[in-house]
Amino acid sequence: MALPTATVSLPLFLLLLLLSTSLTTINAFNITRILAKHPEFSTFNHYLTTTHLADEINRRNTITVLALNNAAMSSILSKQLSLYTLKNVLSLHVLVDYFGSRKLHQITDGSTLTASMFQATGTASGTSGYVNITDLKGGKVGFGAEDNNGKLDATYVKSLEELPYKIAVLQISQPLNSAEAEAPTAAPSSLNLTEIMRNQGCKAFADLLESSGAESTFKENIDGGLTVFCPIDSVVNSFMPKYKNLTAAQKVSLLLFHGLPIYQSLQTLKSSNGVVNTLATDGANKYDLTIQNDGEDVTLKTKVVTAKIVGTLKDEEPLVVFKIDKMLLPRELFKAEVEAPAPAPTPTKKSKAKSKKAAAAPADDADAPSGDDVADQTADNNGVGGLMNGGRWVTVVFSMCFGVLFM
Ligand SMILES: *[C@@H]1O[C@H](CO)[C@@H](O)[C@H](O)[C@H]1NC(C)=O
Ligand SMILES: *[C@@H]1O[C@H](CO)[C@@H](O)[C@H](O)[C@H]1NC(C)=O
Ligand SMILES: *[C@@H]1O[C@H](CO)[C@@H](O)[C@H](O)[C@H]1NC(C)=O
Ligand SMILES: *[C@@H]1O[C@H](CO)[C@@H](O)[C@H](O)[C@H]1NC(C)=O
Repeated sequence: MALPTATVSLPLFLLLLLLSTSLTTINAFNITRILAKHPEFSTFNHYLTTTHLADEINRRNTITVLALNNAAMSSILSKQLSLYTLKNVLSLHVLVDYFGSRKLHQITDGSTLTASMFQATGTASGTSGYVNITDLKGGKVGFGAEDNNGKLDATYVKSLEELPYKIAVLQISQPLNSAEAEAPTAAPSSLNLTEIMRNQGCKAFADLLESSGAESTFKENIDGGLTVFCPIDSVVNSFMPKYKNLTAAQKVSLLLFHGLPIYQSLQTLKSSNGVVNTLATDGANKYDLTIQNDGEDVTLKTKVVTAKIVGTLKDEEPLVVFKIDKMLLPRELFKAEVEAPAPAPTPTKKSKAKSKKAAAAPADDADAPSGDDVADQTADNNGVGGLMNGGRWVTVVFSMCFGVLFM
């Protein structure tokens, strides 16, 4: 019984994988490219990119961008806000709901409050970060920040682009004023990375970053985008005998191996498998790491070890800090351990890996309850699940689809 299902499951898996990949491309839009068609929005477009808001917009599935032309942008820029404050101001102009021009004129009771990205990222407090949209007399539509004493600063001008229920890009006449969004914001590089870790169960790793001097490299990378994987205290503590055995340079390499020089949200990690560079990367194929999603989990693989993300300490683009359940051991430093018997058997032949894994899935799934939950919630999933040995690949594919839908 196991044999026929295994032979069926691989092509079916590939088909589902294909389907889910095309789903990704159907959902994809690129705000930078949309705005590039409208040169009078070049300044707005430029700052969406430099503040990384463009990436955050592109990751969403339902979004409305209230675009400002170059004249409207110059009134914001004359305030000489820092880039990080500017990001808050612009994120107030990105609504996390879809408002095509038609929906704008059909607002129930003529007025609504809707959350902006400024609100959705948790930067805003209270009701600030909400935007009031109101149908005014004469077919006009007014927009104002909720914390602006009821004043609607801007009106709707025209629609630049609409992909129904995914993205609407609307021009509004003026910037939305909000004292909260314009309040000075600390630059991410002034965040104390080790303090963030220390207060949330990664004290031992923070201590190593400081004592080895690796901290400065992490800090230098924050503004340009940084992803940190910090192993939890118990893991670092039991690793200490091996750590002490390393030379000073090897210690630094090992620690730098726990950082990526780009911002990668959990959603992005879940939807993109493959090899990534680390802060320790030194030429091609050196000190790199493989990201692999496993049901709802994200695993980080080296030739020596497979670690799992178990929590998020901080996620505020351009910085994200995850907690992981193992030290990441690069093969460059721990070659000897590659041959040592690993706790989880790793198939040697790549071609066999997938079917082997699918066959082994039922037993394997015992420790992956979150992935199973997703499969259970999918009403029409059970038939396919049975066909595919109740295997993990169904879970992987479906959670990939879900990841895409809820991104
Ligand atoms: C969006 O388009 C811009 C300009 O064409 C490009 O540089 C950028 O990489 C694109 N982003 C994505 C996520 O495809
Ligand atoms: C939006 O603002 C207008 C004008 O101040 C106000 O009359 C309306 O009640 C507000 N709408 C909501 C939903 O708060
Ligand atoms: C971060 O805070 C710790 C105290 O928790 C301090 O010892 C350290 O010097 C700070 N690091 C930076 C770079 O400010
Ligand atoms: C430290 O290195 C030595 C020599 O390479 C090795 O024999 C020993 O097992 C190592 N100790 C630990 C704890 O890894």
